[in-house]
Amino acid sequence: MDIYYFTYTGTSKKIAEWLSKKLNIRPKEIKTYKLPYLIWLFLSFFPYLPFKATFDPPSNKTIILCFPKWTFNCPPVTYFLKKVHYEKLFLVISYKGWGEKLYYRLYYKLTYKKTKEIKIIFIKKKLWEAGIFPEIEF
Ligand SMILES: Cc1cc2nc3c(=O)[nH]c(=O)nc-3n(C[C@H](O)[C@H](O)[C@H](O)COP(=O)(O)O)c2cc1C
Repeated sequence: MDIYYFTYTGTSKKIAEWLSKKLNIRPKEIKTYKLPYLIWLFLSFFPYLPFKATFDPPSNKTIILCFPKWTFNCPPVTYFLKKVHYEKLFLVISYKGWGEKLYYRLYYKLTYKKTKEIKIIFIKKKLWEAGIFPEIEF
């Protein structure tokens, strides 16, 4: 099992670190260029648009991926999901509190053909910060 994360303001990194302690796996970062918020916001309106990112290759076919909800698309994460091979996928998505149903459908559509099993979990940033963690079974 591999744990990956992409983060802009740090929440998904903390979630990945929390999971990596539980599962005893070193988290791997998906890195990209540091662009201003307004540019990311603009790009996030285009579903399935990838944006080049770098990352260590996966070591097996089960992937946990922590990342933020960005409007309709998180381009560096979309790039990763298009590039990499996986069979079991867990998407752990942090968000402020709106639009999760559509995001769920968009990322399900992007990945289901490549997977035998997929689970998508949303974590509200405020609950996370208050120390309320969801039950996640991997
Ligand atoms: C470009 C952009 C778009 C966002 N769009 C949404 C959104 O549609 N719905 C939502 O609930 N939060 C939205 N957020 C807030 C993030 O999902 C939330 O703050 C998340 O926890 C940040 O994760 P991070 O700290 O790992 O970057 C957006 C943030 C950014 C930067």
